[in-house]
Amino acid sequence: MARTFVMVKPDGVRRGLVGEVIRRFEQKGLKLRAMKLIQVSSELAAQHYAEHQPKPFYGDLIAFITSGPSVPMVFEGREAVTVARTLMGATDPVKAQPGTLRGDFGIEITENMVHGSDSAESAEREISLYFAPHEIV
Ligand code: RTP
Ligand code: MG
Repeated sequence: MARTFVMVKPDGVRRGLVGEVIRRFEQKGLKLRAMKLIQVSSELAAQHYAEHQPKPFYGDLIAFITSGPSVPMVFEGREAVTVARTLMGATDPVKAQPGTLRGDFGIEITENMVHGSDSAESAEREISLYFAPHEIV
């Protein structure tokens, strides 16, 4: 069964939207396999977003993702990566459709509430960055 890595970003935690994110994923039919509340360190943030290091928004991205607690999770289900990205909506909340998380909750591209892996390979890499094997059931 496919797995994906999802994380409620610090804005989502600050605004009390953790439950809303979990509710939508569970309602769709994805199964929660791992979850915790953590403060992402600069080192972990740099590993997570290594592909964006050359981009102009990299500094803002790292500052934001380390600005408060986040809630990383693993979800499992058919086509989990695609399903999660569809529920999240477009990267820029201005363009995200209503009915998606980013479309319904927010307007700033940096503070876009939730992260989801963009491929099965990214999912496995990100799951192993955030979770030890014994933390996944
Ligand atoms: P994420 O990795 O956080 O799930 O978001 P994503 O796949 O939809 O977007 P990605 O291209 O991976 O970008 C990672 C995060 O960087 C910020 N970003 N800012 N100012 C900009 O043009 C810009 N582009 C991307 C967003 O916060 C995005 O979630
Ligand atoms: Mg991405």
